[in-house]
Amino acid sequence: MREKIEEAAARYPDQRSAIMPALLIAQQEHGHLPGPILEEVADILGVERIWVYELATFYTLFHTEPIGMFHLQLCDNVSCMLCGSEDLLKHLETALGIKKGETTPDLMFTLSTVECLGACEMAPVMQVGDDYHGDLDIGRIDTLLSRLRADAASNAADDAVPALPGE
Ligand code: FES
Repeated sequence: MREKIEEAAARYPDQRSAIMPALLIAQQEHGHLPGPILEEVADILGVERIWVYELATFYTLFHTEPIGMFHLQLCDNVSCMLCGSEDLLKHLETALGIKKGETTPDLMFTLSTVECLGACEMAPVMQVGDDYHGDLDIGRIDTLLSRLRADAASNAADDAVPALPGE
């Protein structure tokens, strides 16, 4: 992590400007950003720890707690709300058995609501990982959840297959 952060930070004349890319690198490597990792990022950059903590807790793309394999980020801003995001949130909470801000016990899904995702033309929108899913309705949500569960099961099966000699 240190080497990648130092490489990214070299592109910025002010190390405070490098906090965002440094946090992204740290999160890619560790999955989330607990306190000791935030302190390490601050130490690598030589900046105040509070500056790192402020950014890590302000932006929804950073996670100071562990999150599920799939992070469902449903937009609840005006365009999406007018197109039914409130009903979709209720449906997601029922389908997953959790409330927004929570993670399923099997650590597969974390459900969040976020401000405008900048894709109002396809409202209501939900971001899953790096992908946007738009024009959502309850049927599409159910199809998406099924597909994500199938992807997870497939990945788990792939991981369980022992490697052949020479692979
Ligand atoms: Fe939902 Fe803009 S309001 S994407």
